Amino acid sequence: MVIIKEVIMTKSRKWVLTRRFFLKSSVSLAAAPFLFAANAMMRAFKDENSLKKDLLRGTRTSSFSGVAPDANRKPAPGVRFGMLTDSHYADIDTRGTRYYRESISKMHECIELMNDKQVDFVIQLGDFKNGAPDNNMENLRRFEDVYAKFSGPRYHVLGNHDMDSISKPQFMSVIENTGIDKDASYYSFDHGNVRFIVLDANFREDGKPYDTGNFSWMDSNIPAVQREWLDNELRSTDRPVIIFIHQLLDNDEGNHYVRNASEIRRVLERHTLKLHDDEHCPKVLAVFQGHQHRGQYNLINNIHYYTLKAMVEGSGKENNSYAIVELFDDLSIEIKGYRKAVNHTLESIPAEVQG
Ligand SMILES: [Fe+2]
Repeated sequence: MVIIKEVIMTKSRKWVLTRRFFLKSSVSLAAAPFLFAANAMMRAFKDENSLKKDLLRGTRTSSFSGVAPDANRKPAPGVRFGMLTDSHYADIDTRGTRYYRESISKMHECIELMNDKQVDFVIQLGDFKNGAPDNNMENLRRFEDVYAKFSGPRYHVLGNHDMDSISKPQFMSVIENTGIDKDASYYSFDHGNVRFIVLDANFREDGKPYDTGNFSWMDSNIPAVQREWLDNELRSTDRPVIIFIHQLLDNDEGNHYVRNASEIRRVLERHTLKLHDDEHCPKVLAVFQGHQHRGQYNLINNIHYYTLKAMVEGSGKENNSYAIVELFDDLSIEIKGYRKAVNHTLESIPAEVQG
């Protein structure tokens, strides 16, 4: 049933038809058959919103469908978190546009705001540290101490620079992922009836993990064991899911992308939540990434891919970058960017009307 006459343009510059627009346009249709169809869609819309709100409250574990943000949407309890990436902290001189030392003061500002806003948790998306000629462990401890000033759970995603001068076990021995096994470089946790999955793409094509600079930063892969773990994590939950990863998954070619990105996207796209007999939406609402310092956004097969700008780029607090991500009970997501970070609304888009 296609009776939509207009489209809106998202910040991704992809043309997308929205259910909200459908509802707006449907009331002006005069033909009786169309009105009958529109009324049916209105009922379906109400049912979907009810299902989604129950889903995020944890009172329903069945299914939901995507629609544009509800005018009456409410914040979903327990799903508001702070996010930053590519701080590259080291006590070394500036190189190019990377002001390594300044990440200490930038992180202080970020954590102070996250405490003021009382977000549920904070997560950094990799390249927390940067290699230095000496004192690598001391630099890391100093920086983790600042991150630890957040008065709630904190999480790390591993980036290539985190293993450019020390080993993965050394890095893991200093940082804390609250409530997570100390040895787990990829893991999941649940907050507010949403499952959050952290991936580790720091593996060479031959399957060997990055370790103390034994890799090319362009050779990023997710091995089969982790891919199968991801598949199982998605299969085993009825909750909507958010993914965190350092290297990018929203393209197949280019130095910043995971080499087997298309294979991983197929896993993400395979898992859906069902509302009606013939209507499904992706279980994965969004993928949050770092690594490419300028940031970007893509929408691929109804899954949002948002890359946050790097904290290390540029001097002074005006060049800081971090964000608060909030989920709403209509399953839309608001990204509030601070300093250079970009605001974005990630609408929950029904599969049947995607442009
Ligand atoms: Fe980086």
